[in-house]
Amino acid sequence: MDETHREFVDLVNALLTVDDGGLGDALVAFAAHAEAHFAQENEWMEKNDFPPRDCHIDEHNKVLASVYEVQRHLAEGDVAIVRELAVALMEWFPAHADYLDSALATWLVKRVHAGAPLVMRRKVVKA
Ligand SMILES: [Fe+2]
Ligand SMILES: [Fe+2]
Repeated sequence: MDETHREFVDLVNALLTVDDGGLGDALVAFAAHAEAHFAQENEWMEKNDFPPRDCHIDEHNKVLASVYEVQRHLAEGDVAIVRELAVALMEWFPAHADYLDSALATWLVKRVHAGAPLVMRRKVVKA
């Protein structure tokens, strides 16, 4: 999940920094990432009965709907709306990752370890 989230940040950054001629490709790359990223999390939620999954899946679907809408505007020559989408994604993502994605990660780890959290301790060696 962390690796996927780093990729998300990199692709949003590309939407902010690429020149106008590269925006179409950058938006296609972001859409492909978002589809796979959200589909993976949705599958984890469904398979593991994650309680607030409806709210989480709804957020994913709203983001994808916005991306597709912006792709239609870009096809009509509106490049500014892609930059606006990128800014909106940058503002949206930290809270989504901190609350919904981290709650999902905690839920999955507890399921895998049958409710026993994994605690790492440093070994103390006496001289
Ligand atoms: Fe995520
Ligand atoms: Fe998510």
